[in-house]
Amino acid sequence: MKSTTSPPAGAAATEIWLDTDPGFDDWFAWALLETDPAVKLHGVSVVAGNAPLPLVLSNAQRIHALHGWRTPLWAGADRPLVQKQVTAQDVLGSMGMRTVGAALPEAASALQGGHGVDAMIEGIRAHPRRITLLAIGPLTNVALAFAKAPELPSLLAGLVVMGGSQGAGNTTPVAEFNIYADPEAAAQVFAQAARIPGGARMFGIEVCRQVQGGDVHVGALRAASRDARDRAAIFADHLDGYIDIARRRGRMSAPMYDPTPVAWLAHPEWFSLAPARVDVELTGTYTRGMTVCELRVPRRAAPNAEVALSADGAKVMDWAVELLRSTL
Ligand code: RIB
Ligand code: CA
Repeated sequence: MKSTTSPPAGAAATEIWLDTDPGFDDWFAWALLETDPAVKLHGVSVVAGNAPLPLVLSNAQRIHALHGWRTPLWAGADRPLVQKQVTAQDVLGSMGMRTVGAALPEAASALQGGHGVDAMIEGIRAHPRRITLLAIGPLTNVALAFAKAPELPSLLAGLVVMGGSQGAGNTTPVAEFNIYADPEAAAQVFAQAARIPGGARMFGIEVCRQVQGGDVHVGALRAASRDARDRAAIFADHLDGYIDIARRRGRMSAPMYDPTPVAWLAHPEWFSLAPARVDVELTGTYTRGMTVCELRVPRRAAPNAEVALSADGAKVMDWAVELLRSTL
């Protein structure tokens, strides 16, 4: 597998398919992709994760309408491949997102007909070796697509996953939420990762925690607002609500999980990655959903991905806030 630290060669614009479970950090990541002129976003598929599918779909449709985006939007899987559904509503609230004030307006964009997995397959087939699949929720849709279209991994320019960790988890002591929510899907996706021409990359908890959102970023985005109900105010209130989760635990800032891999796509020079063998634990009583990352490759194992190790969090957040201020 090629070991690169930059988006796949030849991608004049970075061409993306986004699979997501909005959540606020998903919304932040999605807004960066829609705003960055170097990105061509082919489609968005929604997967159950932070909240059950009807709720994350509603969030996605209302976010899409609020921004007036035109990227086609599909509903994907409503449950994990095998296990009972787990969500992050205990942390993120019933809607999977918190706000300190302004709510998302009710107006919602229409969904495309058909299933998001089929749309993902068709979109990637239509642009062979050009699209990087960015997955920032549980990997259910990606696993279903790989199972339905076994040639799909070989047609990707790359796979970028926000998920997993090299050590401690954020949902169990050793499992990160996106992997824990559907471990079978994650195991099936990483089993195919070495077949992806441009490589697979894992942005886990450790690197995402180096990218922190805090009051200064809320203030900068709120300053772009002209009244308490405009897009900038609504977005800033949700960022504030997301950071509130950390404040209630005694911290002053929150990890910006899903925007982190988006920043790598735009500025790989702010990151370091290392080749690794990533496997997903399925049977451990206490370790189910753990990503087991072997960095001693190829000596100890054949690599199947690159794992992100470090990020320049200050540069990432300065870039992200500036980009968003231009569009909110
Ligand atoms: O563990 C963080 C991940 O879980 C993020 O993608 C967040 O949106 C939730 O889905
Ligand atoms: Ca997410």
